[in-house]
This record gives sequence, structure tokens and C-alpha cells, in this order.
Amino acid sequence: MTDSTGFRIDVNGVKSVSEGFRMYIETFGCQMNVNDSEVVASILAREGYAVTPHMEQADLILINTCSVRENAEQRVRGRLNVFRMEKKKRPGVLIGVMGCMAERLKEQLLEEEKAVDLVVGPDAYRELPQLVRNAGTGQKAVNVLLSREETYADISPVRMDRNGVSSFVSIMRGCNNRCTYCIVPYTRGVERSRSPETVLDEIGGLVAAGYKEVTLLGQNVDSYRWKNGNTVSFPRLLETVAAISPALRVRFATSHPKDMTEEVLHVMAAHPNICKSIHLPVQSGSSRLLERMRRRYTREWYLSRIDAIRRILPDCSISTDIIAGFCTETEADHAETLSLMRQVQFDYAFMFKYSERPNTPAAGKMKDDVPENVKSRRLQEIINLQGELSLESKQRFIGKTTEILAESISKKSPDQLSGRNSQNMVTVFPKQRHTTGEYVQVRITGCTPATLQGTAE
Ligand code: 5AD
Ligand code: SF4
Repeated sequence: MTDSTGFRIDVNGVKSVSEGFRMYIETFGCQMNVNDSEVVASILAREGYAVTPHMEQADLILINTCSVRENAEQRVRGRLNVFRMEKKKRPGVLIGVMGCMAERLKEQLLEEEKAVDLVVGPDAYRELPQLVRNAGTGQKAVNVLLSREETYADISPVRMDRNGVSSFVSIMRGCNNRCTYCIVPYTRGVERSRSPETVLDEIGGLVAAGYKEVTLLGQNVDSYRWKNGNTVSFPRLLETVAAISPALRVRFATSHPKDMTEEVLHVMAAHPNICKSIHLPVQSGSSRLLERMRRRYTREWYLSRIDAIRRILPDCSISTDIIAGFCTETEADHAETLSLMRQVQFDYAFMFKYSERPNTPAAGKMKDDVPENVKSRRLQEIINLQGELSLESKQRFIGKTTEILAESISKKSPDQLSGRNSQNMVTVFPKQRHTTGEYVQVRITGCTPATLQGTAE
């Protein structure tokens, strides 16, 4: 049944429009998805839906999904089972799948997951109100059209991060690199940039609301480009954002080694409020495998980028992504990955086993021929080595004072604050007189591989 604004009401005979509706959103996958969920919350807020953190109270349950590895999809399936049980208890509740898995599986999701009412791809979120309406009348609804233009530029995301201190701002969507292992170009479509004006407006709004840190997001920020008379490239956008306020920290992700310019590094060096931390996924230390992955750089090129970072930004931390066991990877290739890790001394890494994704170039042309036990062993060796490197990188801060933006009360203790330094290292320290949103000089006294510990000066 629908009301005068076309919205589903009264399915259980208990709710009137004036009470409003509640949506519960769960997000899997990357930071981009976190931001997309906020865009969706904003689109549906206009239609009277408020976010609830309690699934049991929601009229609409949405799950924003990731397809990048098979286990990401399996986790989503697990959650869908939980939502199905909820729907058994409350048949009126609507369940929607959005994001990359929606894009990949399309109608198939409705067939496989009977409890799902709507399926919406990453470029179709503006259609959500209509899709929810249709679903509310019992028609299953699907929209997975990809767009060449959609950037949700005019939509101010509803912030669901709740710390009120740091936030994500997307500056571009999609990806034009066709790394052979990766499903993203097929689930998120072609690359497009958002106008600088709308980016700056959104950040202005965040600053006015008291936010102290923004992370500019894109699959490949170095290809940010906005043409309107003059061309605005990523370094220009970055320095304009940094100029908004010296009290606003600016971060960005992700950089691509083939595109990252020294110009960006010089802009970072010139602005103390641009955080000294770069995420530069390497994927493999073997040039032979990089070629098969179609990364379009070699081991030597990657190392030359690291040299440039060290030269221009001596105190910059570097994190990376690594894939273990890509097609044809030999022990020698794997050893090259380990040796590159040692050489670069990454401060942090996201490490994965290769997971073949349907319809990617690798799935079509290459055999997923590294046995599962070999992949697991190699991944473990990579994780062990990174554990050592992460610990060493933290230990270098012991005895030093570093500026922390306090972001939240520590999960482990209400008397401790948690935040990060410019190098993106999580740091906890006794709260004393300090509060979230403050910059605090913290003297580092100890660490684990994941966290720095210290006391406020
Ligand atoms: N298998 C394993 N890891 C993958 N990634 C992307 N595609 C795959 C895949 N098929 C990793 C890459 C990328 C990160 C976001 O996810 O390391 O940088
Ligand atoms: Fe993000 Fe890629 Fe996962 Fe899509 S597939 S949610 S773009 S990490």
C-alpha cells in the first residue's frame, strides 16, 4: 500500500506516515562504499526515512556490498540470512541489496535470495525512492544501470560515522584501469570526476559542522580531472582543499603508482595540514606478475616512486595492498614480493589471497593455478613479515612527540582517547582534560604492531 507521497505504509497495519520510516544500512567493502551509504541515507532522508542503528526497528534494511573477493560476497550472504530471519518475524520489512554485488549479480540475486526485494547498482541510487515504492507494493525492483556521468555531486551525504571529527568525501567514481584481476571497472563503471565546486561546498559544510579531517576518495585519485575552461587536476584540487583551513586535516586515497606525480608530493610538502601518509598499492614485487596483472609499471618504477616520496616527504608513511598467489606466481615471484616489502619497509599493508572474479580478464584468459594451500602459506609469510615491519615502523615513534587528532573515546577504555597522527597511525592516550576533535601533542611511550600508546604533553 502507498500513501499520497507514494510511500509504503501500513504493511503491518501499525505505522502511519507521520511517524516516519526507519532504515538500517550495513556497509561492506571499501571507504567508497561507506560514503555511498551516506549518499543513500541522504536520498532516502528526503523521503522521510531516518537512519536507525537497530535492524529490529527498521522498515527498510539495506546492505551495501562488495564483490572484490569471493569471501566479501560470502559475508554478505551470511548477513542476508540474518535479514531473512528478521523478515520472517516481520513480513513487512523490505530488504535491499546495493553496491558492487548488486551490480555483478543483477536479477540473479532476486532468484537466489528470495527475501530480497530490491537490487540497486552504484550508479542508480537516485532511483531508490521509486524502487522502494515499487518494492512496497510487492513488485521486486532492480536498477543496475551504470552511468558515464553520475557523481552524486549535488547530494550532501548524511554522516553516519558519528565521531563528528573525520569524514570521507568522494571526488570521483569508477575506474578506467583494467587490472586483470579486478572486478571494479565492471561493477563501478568508467571513471568520472566531480566538480571542484561541489567538493569544496561539501567540505565547507563539514568544516562548519565542526569536522577536522576529510579524506578525498577515488579509485585512482591521480586521474582526477575537471574541465570547465581551465582544467583542474588532482594536485590543484588538493591544494585548494588544504587552503580551506589550516586546522583541517586532508587525506586522500587511493594513488596509483603509474600515475602518482611528484607534483602531488610537492603540494603535500608545502601544506602541513595535508597528512603525510600515502596509500600506494603495489600488488606484487615481481615485474613479470605486474605485467600479467596489467598494472602498467615495473618493480623498478614502483621503487622509483618510493624514492621520490622519501626524498620529497621524509616523514611520510607508506601503506600498500598485496595479492598473494596470482595466476602463475612462482616461489621466485613471491620472494620478490617479500624482498620489495623489506626494501620499502611499508608502515601498513592490506594483504589478500588472489580470488578469481567472474568476467574479469584474468578469469577469462588465465588459469587460477596456484594451489590454495600454497596461496595460504605465501599470504601468511607476507602477513608475518608485515607484522614485523609494522612493529618497527611504530617503534620509530617511541620517545617522540606526535600530533594526534582525537577522534573518539577508545573502545578499550572510557578514560582513553583514540586518534591518528599525520602518518595515519592509530594512537591511544589518557583523556585527562582533552576531548574529541582536539589536536593533542602526544609523547609516545609504547606500541603494538597496530597501535601507538602515549601521554598528552
Ligand atoms: N583477489 C584478491 N585481491 C584483490 N584485490 C582486488 N581484486 C582482487 C582479487 N580478485 C585487492 C587489491 C586491491 C584491493 C582493493 O583489493 O589489492 O588494491
Ligand atoms: Fe569497493 Fe571494489 Fe569492493 Fe566495489 S568491489 S565495494 S569498489 S572494494
